[in-house]
Amino acid sequence: MATPVSIEVWNPNGKYRVVSTKPMPGTRWIRLLTDQDCRVEICTQRKTILSVDDILALIGDKCDGVIGQLTEDWGEVLFSGLSRAGGRAFSNMAVGYNNVDVNAATKYGVAVGNTPGVLTETTAELAASLSLSASRRIVEADEFMRAGLYDGWLPHLFVGNLLKGQTVGVIGAGRIGSAYARMMVEGFKMNLIYYDLYQATRLEKFVTAYGEFLKASGEAPVTWRRASTMEEVLREADVISLHPVLDKTTYHLVNKERLSMMKKEAILVNCSRGPVIDEAALVEHLKENPMFRVGLDVFEEPYMKPGLADMKNAIVVPHIASASKWTREGMATLAALNVLGKIKGYPVWSDPNRVEPFLNENSPPPAACPSIVNAKALGLTASKL
Ligand code: DGY
Repeated sequence: MATPVSIEVWNPNGKYRVVSTKPMPGTRWIRLLTDQDCRVEICTQRKTILSVDDILALIGDKCDGVIGQLTEDWGEVLFSGLSRAGGRAFSNMAVGYNNVDVNAATKYGVAVGNTPGVLTETTAELAASLSLSASRRIVEADEFMRAGLYDGWLPHLFVGNLLKGQTVGVIGAGRIGSAYARMMVEGFKMNLIYYDLYQATRLEKFVTAYGEFLKASGEAPVTWRRASTMEEVLREADVISLHPVLDKTTYHLVNKERLSMMKKEAILVNCSRGPVIDEAALVEHLKENPMFRVGLDVFEEPYMKPGLADMKNAIVVPHIASASKWTREGMATLAALNVLGKIKGYPVWSDPNRVEPFLNENSPPPAACPSIVNAKALGLTASKL
């Protein structure tokens, strides 16, 4: 039996009932919904991850749409519950939707929205930060200072890795992987090796042009190579960042065997999804290879595997890659507009990578759903704007 959950209500007399399973950053998303005759109910329960029962209780008997979070299990039970309550709109406040059973949603006629385009650079910046922090041992050095252990410069103190001229490896060169690659190539003059099923043409052109620019300035040019296997990247790169989607094919993609292919002093960064790495195998690898370092934003969540937090050669942050104010407010806005657009019967925006018109606070957003992942399966029309 579902337990009652605490909520905050905006525009109580609104015609459409929209539920958000969490308070989200900013207020624009609330205004956009209330201005369009929505009653907005925000769950304020002090519980990090809501259960399926909690969410069923929130949905209740009548609900037009829900904005949910990546920690929630959106499958058959919730989509049938939402459909029974008359709802046909759901959006994750995330670009990733591995927590959503899209087929189940489609079966119940529910549109599934996500929030691409607004977190590309923010997420890539965190991957770059973790790469830098791991290579220069910033967290360890900070802890050392705070512990009062510093009593003067020493030749061997916290010696790390130089990035310039080394090779950065990217597994999954989509939007975020490519943005990260550009930062590392341009910022630190690293050479690039990447693995992706699709050719990252724009990224290749960028590295070629930057290499030519460096050469013309009398510097060593940067280079790129598209690897034909993921293993090539693991063997050759000095810093490797993981950017695949999580599905059956990428679960424990980096396992014991693949970890052993990497250089002893390599740096591994993960801002995608935790289960892409076999975390128990990683803990063993970190123990056996003290010069190997990792920067992790994601885990086999919600908890880290035992031993990981004790490793000096691991930097761990709590899934904050998209946590810049602009991005998180933008994600909330896109998620709200996905739900609103479906309720209003708007078409689906034609390019989910170009969402800027939805984010401009000074003009009303286009009358469209920014990004619906099962638009085709539901036969939703595309916007002509
Ligand atoms: C996403 O949107 O999928 C991210 O993991 C949240 O930051």
